[in-house]
Amino acid sequence: MSNLRIPTAAIFEPLLRPARYKAAWGGRGSGKSHFFAEAVLEHCIGNPGARVVAIREVQRSLAESAKRLIEDKARRQGVSGLFSFRRDRIGTPGGGAILFQGMQDHTAESIKSLEGVTIAWVEEAQSLSKRSLELLRPTIRAPGSELWFSWNPRRASDPVDALFRSGRPPPNAIVVRALYRDNPWFPEELERERRDDQKNNPSRYGHIWEGDYEPTVEGAIWTRAEIQQNRVASAPDLEKIVVAVDPAVSSGEGADETGIVVCGLGRDRRGYVLDDQSVRGAPDTWARRVVSAYDHWRADTIVAEKNQGGEMVRTTLEAVRRSLPVRLVHASRRKAERAQPVAALDGLGKISHVGDFPELEEQMMQMTAEGYEGPGSPDRVDARVHGFLHLFKNLTAPRPATAAPARRANLGAYQGEF
Ligand SMILES: Nc1ncnc2c1ncn2[C@@H]1O[C@H](COP(=O)(O)OP(=O)(O)OP(=O)(O)O)[C@@H](O)[C@H]1O
Ligand SMILES: [Mg+2]
Repeated sequence: MSNLRIPTAAIFEPLLRPARYKAAWGGRGSGKSHFFAEAVLEHCIGNPGARVVAIREVQRSLAESAKRLIEDKARRQGVSGLFSFRRDRIGTPGGGAILFQGMQDHTAESIKSLEGVTIAWVEEAQSLSKRSLELLRPTIRAPGSELWFSWNPRRASDPVDALFRSGRPPPNAIVVRALYRDNPWFPEELERERRDDQKNNPSRYGHIWEGDYEPTVEGAIWTRAEIQQNRVASAPDLEKIVVAVDPAVSSGEGADETGIVVCGLGRDRRGYVLDDQSVRGAPDTWARRVVSAYDHWRADTIVAEKNQGGEMVRTTLEAVRRSLPVRLVHASRRKAERAQPVAALDGLGKISHVGDFPELEEQMMQMTAEGYEGPGSPDRVDARVHGFLHLFKNLTAPRPATAAPARRANLGAYQGEF
């Protein structure tokens, strides 16, 4: 039996007894992930041969999964000898396993491989689609099996909220709301973040820290539903990839972030957001990031806004590597205006996020026709906009220069230098 002694925060104690459904929702840093990671270890030690799946809607890589957290917990609890850590799974006592998967990689057929699972833990369950929830619930059917959910709510209509918080939760469900102040191990670093949001980001504070639904910004040019609908788990064959950069003006504490977003154009003529490598830091920091994203994605071009630094942007990048295909663009109009044609493509379902990009999406939700309503500057959005203006410019403005002026005018906010 268990030789584990894990202290549990009082807020999660109701979840220690058996139940078909266990749900923990709330704000950032409330200890949800840590609690469930510990509960997984305890389950595996107490039930030899247990099969656990840690699942999320989209899992682009194992690095996004709870694997690392569970491994660290096992080491810290001194029980790592009972487990075997493989590349994509963790072997558990008695020949069981903890698997890490994305629901979007499953079909109605493949999901059957999970029928022997004793615990399914859905992390970041706010992103779970209706289809995934419908597939998962009847699949987890082993005697005494449980479904666990942890999430930070975004909309009341998200399937996990509709299931557990609509007033009619399924029978045998335990639902708790956890907040940072319920977490006895709430770290100082997060406390500083929280205070900063309280001061500088009051309109989103409730959502981030109190588990409130995401506030909708009036007149926002992107909607959460649209992004959700278009989201995919993997990109198709890509014709062109750009690393788009909105460089920070200043560096040091309190400096803006440099938006670094990798965008692709598929052979299907659709756009894909592939990666967000945005970073706060000195020019050599962001420049190295840009070059490493360029290498990683084998990108064709680096597109960078030059408004603030002019040729400095090129020099900074070329200090990292002498020869790079850098295109500097001058953004002549207001951010919001510049974003409109790209938002229109999103509205037509022509752009997909490959996986989740929480910080980028959060900025998108606060972009209105009047300007950006969030704190600071929407650097990630700017980079995304530059990326797709570049990719779709080539699509909509065919060479030679006899291109139809009307079509060009659509993208008139963009003046690239080539
Ligand atoms: N049981 C625990 N033992 C040690 N530290 C913990 C524990 N629970 C939480 N913490 C600390 O609190 C922090 C926040 O916890 P956790 O990441 O589990 O919160 P969360 O609710 O999943 O937050 P988020 O919404 O940001 O994912 C952790 O990074 C860790 O520092
Ligand atoms: Mg978490």
